[in-house]
Amino acid sequence: MGRLQDKVAIITGGTSGMGRDTAYVFAEEGAKVVITGRNEARAKEVVENIESNGGEALYVIADMTNRDELKQIVDKTVEAFGTVDILFNNAGILSTTPTMQIELDEWDAAMQVNVTSALTLTKLVAPLMKEKGNGIIINTGSIAGTSARWGPVGYCTSKHAMSGLTKALARELGPEIRVNAILPGAIATAMLDSAGGEDAMEPMKQMSPLKRIGRGREIGTVALFLATDDSSFITGQLIRVDGGVDV
Ligand SMILES: NC(=O)c1ccc[n+]([C@@H]2O[C@H](COP(=O)([O-])OP(=O)(O)OC[C@H]3O[C@@H](n4cnc5c(N)ncnc54)[C@H](OP(=O)(O)O)[C@@H]3O)[C@@H](O)[C@H]2O)c1
Repeated sequence: MGRLQDKVAIITGGTSGMGRDTAYVFAEEGAKVVITGRNEARAKEVVENIESNGGEALYVIADMTNRDELKQIVDKTVEAFGTVDILFNNAGILSTTPTMQIELDEWDAAMQVNVTSALTLTKLVAPLMKEKGNGIIINTGSIAGTSARWGPVGYCTSKHAMSGLTKALARELGPEIRVNAILPGAIATAMLDSAGGEDAMEPMKQMSPLKRIGRGREIGTVALFLATDDSSFITGQLIRVDGGVDV
């Protein structure tokens, strides 16, 4: 029996990178997984992979900036699987433009995708979780969510906001719901590729005691820990998964 047997998990940004790898980890542990994103071909592929391994999954195409589509994610999950046990607010975008050049459209998009969508989805699932007496919310922050060293203004500010959101939600939604954030360092995903790939991360690798960048599955296994009773006394925490780059 899997460690998430019959639990229902929504994973935003499940069409790529660490969200996709977490979907595979959760499904292997028996969860019914709902992945979201905008790219239907990739969404289909993830669901097919899970199903071909005997798991249960569905996708909902939704833009994190569209409140009606966010509501659809929760509605379709409840329609298909009856409830929501785990919400992984993982979708995110980079914003790399420095302060004097950044346009407010870029700033607003970073805030909406990286933070506001997490609040909106939390507000939609929290009543269900409260009513049944338990629930898990995991947010994807970043090491740019505790230091300005790792991200320019839009990304850094949105990820600091995600850190604050995590703590505020943990305080407000307990005792039924535990809320934690994973703060990844450099992880090999499409986002990392768009920032120059592994080569561009060479200085970061050298700063890390582990001398490498991380893999999406190494985020998935930490998300699994946070989603199970193995972490039953942990809430409001920002868990760095970064190869020790700042130690
Ligand atoms: N990779 C790293 O080194 C790193 C480090 C620290 C933190 N993070 C964070 O980790 C999370 C996952 O990123 P990743 O590295 O796995 O990147 P990724 O491979 O680019 O995946 C990003 C995911 O977010 C979804 N997404 C982006 N914008 C969206 C929008 N407007 N509406 C709906 N979905 C949207 C994408 O789905 P579609 O393309 O299908 O829309 C995709 O599934 C993000 O929050 C990111 O900030 C990454």
